[in-house]
Amino acid sequence: MTTFWSTWICVLTIGSLIGLTWLLVGTRKGETKGSVDQTMGHAFDGIEEYDNPLPQWWFLLFAGTLVFAVGYLILYPGLGNWKGVLPGYQDGWTQTKEWDKEMAKADAKFGPIFAKFAAMPVEEVAKDPQALKMGGRLFASNCSVCHGSDAKGAFGFPNLADSDWRWGGSAQAIKTTIMGGRMAAMPAWGEVLGDAGVKNVAAYVRHELAGLPLPADSGADLAAGQQAYSTTCVACHGANGQGMELMGAPNLTHPAGFIYGTSLAQLQQTIRHGRQGHMPAQNELLGNDKVQLLAAYVYSLSHGTSAQPLQADSKSE
Ligand code: HEC
Ligand code: HEC
Repeated sequence: MTTFWSTWICVLTIGSLIGLTWLLVGTRKGETKGSVDQTMGHAFDGIEEYDNPLPQWWFLLFAGTLVFAVGYLILYPGLGNWKGVLPGYQDGWTQTKEWDKEMAKADAKFGPIFAKFAAMPVEEVAKDPQALKMGGRLFASNCSVCHGSDAKGAFGFPNLADSDWRWGGSAQAIKTTIMGGRMAAMPAWGEVLGDAGVKNVAAYVRHELAGLPLPADSGADLAAGQQAYSTTCVACHGANGQGMELMGAPNLTHPAGFIYGTSLAQLQQTIRHGRQGHMPAQNELLGNDKVQLLAAYVYSLSHGTSAQPLQADSKSE
């Protein structure tokens, strides 16, 4: 900061403090014993303006803030180029430097631990209680907003603690998913199939593939649904509805793994308008070492190597 601006700030700050002190002390009205509730002589619609002294607690609070300000400005940088008398601020304090310092401290402390786990295969990391604890914390702060604190998912967000995988459940596939993110694209079939076509194929998916009962009055033509399935859906979901990891196309024979619902109405909605689930990439945000721990944590949830998800009891679906 140039001397001019430094002086300018000092003058403004010290001037304000002196001004405020004067305002507080100079205009203070002492207690006048015996004669409480004097008025200013004004009355507005029967409301009178009193001329009482400030309450003692208020006065002391204000005086306290002034003392605090003076003490702070002596101890810490704040007054122009003044660096404060406390050690540690002599080379100029900035939030960025403070942040860098804390990060360097954290790196020195955790770097070797991260490096150790990064060099191990994910399956092995998933057996290490310390790694799982760290992974669980990372999951709670970065993933639970979407996947739930118990990792069991929600509408539109897959359950990561079961054995249904849209993009593959091997340790490597899970890590690839987290690092690079995933963009699912289920096309909209409403225009191609028409209303009746959507209803038929939805009923086919629900009854023949997912093995769920149909309402008696569904009026769906399952044979026509199968016909439509084998021409429009097999390419991604497979001849038997087993899905395809390459496309992120889910297995349609496991209704527990559906994230957009299994009712006829929800299935029709999915088929008519399509779905685009988006798992955001974490490589730039978290980096390889943290994703390694996350992948191990997620892997452990369905491969029985971990104790339990952090809050296994919060949801039971
Ligand atoms: C903004 C919401 C969101 C956040 C945050 C998020 N995810 Fe996801 N994740 C999704 C969605 C949506 C999908 C499903 C994508 C699809 O439709 O195929 C998904 C899919 C996945 C899958 C693949 C599941 C499968 O069946 O193959 C894994 C593994 C995963 N997420 C892990 C994580 C981890 C670990 C984190 C934390 C670093 C995380 N996700 C953070 C939304 C999110
Ligand atoms: C181009 C490949 C592709 C084709 C063709 C396709 N799907 Fe999909 N389908 C997907 C993908 C990818 C998803 C996952 C979408 C997501 O996660 O957001 C999906 C999701 C679904 C779901 C939702 C499952 C859930 O998790 O709730 C249903 C139901 C479905 N498809 C049925 C069909 C039917 C019926 C057809 C044929 C009319 C069809 N799909 C054709 C790729 C395809």
